[in-house]
Amino acid sequence: MKKVGFGIIGCGMIANWHADAITKVDGARLVGAADVNIEAGKAFAEKYETRAFETIEKLLQNKDIKIVCICTPSGLHAPLAVKAAGAGKHIVVEKPMAITLKECDEIIKACEKNNVKLAVISQLRFSHSVRELKKAIVSQKLGRLVSGDVYMKYFRSEEYYEKSGWKGSWKMDGGGALMNQGIHGVDILQYLMGPVKLVFGHVRTLTRNIEVEDTAAAVLEFENGALGVIQGTTSVYPGSPRRLEVNGDKGTIVLEEDSIAQWEIKGEQIPENIETGSTRISTASNPAAMGVEGHMMQIIDMVDAVAYNRKPMVDQYEGRKPVEIITAIYESSRTGKPVYLKE
Ligand SMILES: NC(=O)c1ccc[n+]([C@@H]2O[C@H](COP(=O)([O-])OP(=O)(O)OC[C@H]3O[C@@H](n4cnc5c(N)ncnc54)[C@H](O)[C@@H]3O)[C@@H](O)[C@H]2O)c1
Repeated sequence: MKKVGFGIIGCGMIANWHADAITKVDGARLVGAADVNIEAGKAFAEKYETRAFETIEKLLQNKDIKIVCICTPSGLHAPLAVKAAGAGKHIVVEKPMAITLKECDEIIKACEKNNVKLAVISQLRFSHSVRELKKAIVSQKLGRLVSGDVYMKYFRSEEYYEKSGWKGSWKMDGGGALMNQGIHGVDILQYLMGPVKLVFGHVRTLTRNIEVEDTAAAVLEFENGALGVIQGTTSVYPGSPRRLEVNGDKGTIVLEEDSIAQWEIKGEQIPENIETGSTRISTASNPAAMGVEGHMMQIIDMVDAVAYNRKPMVDQYEGRKPVEIITAIYESSRTGKPVYLKE
């Protein structure tokens, strides 16, 4: 099988997960990378024994590159995705897809116009625990859904923000505890519980010297009538594993990071492929404490989507959803009023 060529734009921390995933996937090969910081691009290319392109334009002109991974600060996702779509490249963009709904829509338009595919990284959707929980919900094992909550109480030091140069700013991060760290949990919550009808949010910057929120709390109503809570912070020491709770009138399933902490369904034994326990590995206090499997699954999904001309599992319309919820929470916090999401 001919390997599909990938290029990486932005050679910082998360680019390593993309390069590792691409090099581990059979149908993929890394053609090269580019960064505005030429030295960073060169060092990255050396590490992965690939080509360092001098400019983003040169990378986008390369005919061997069919899929581009965008791993830059979040505020640059939209302009770069629009540019990559214009160059006819399929796109894998890091979360958040973009930092405003307007920018998400610009990306959607560019992909439609240029007939290219786009996948947004939301690696938790591919984990065993989330897939099993989704199956239980779809097959109505939990009965009528009553509540769906996610708690993301993390620790990021002042130094983490100071040395980044872009994290914690509205322009490049688009938000804080929710738009950056918490979006994973927000995405799986809406993926599992279904569309959100309204949010009532309150966000504050309590301890960090940043423009965006370091602490957020929101109440949600889902379209199916269930209620929910989103809590996110990057200001608590030492941080706790992410906890996601789904309750119905016939059962409860609780995830702690990727582990299933509780699986109880009325009148049923725990299925054999479900192991309950608590989690050890967590990004609660260390953003780099995560495996490469999730990114690998998304690279495999994208290679397959391009080969068989189908939609990637988390396409641009899916990637827009958590951004819509988070920006609605910000708006609600600003206005003091509930925000109804558009259908
Ligand atoms: N999926 C996940 O779990 C996960 C984890 C961490 C970060 N992320 C996301 O990945 C993205 C990058 O985060 P990071 O922590 O790797 O940031 P980083 O600061 O470590 O790296 C960003 C890189 O982009 C480069 N860059 C800046 N402007 C550029 C431009 N115009 N063109 C090309 N390169 C440019 C910088 O020089 C830097 O090397 C963010 O959107 C973040 O939300 C996702």
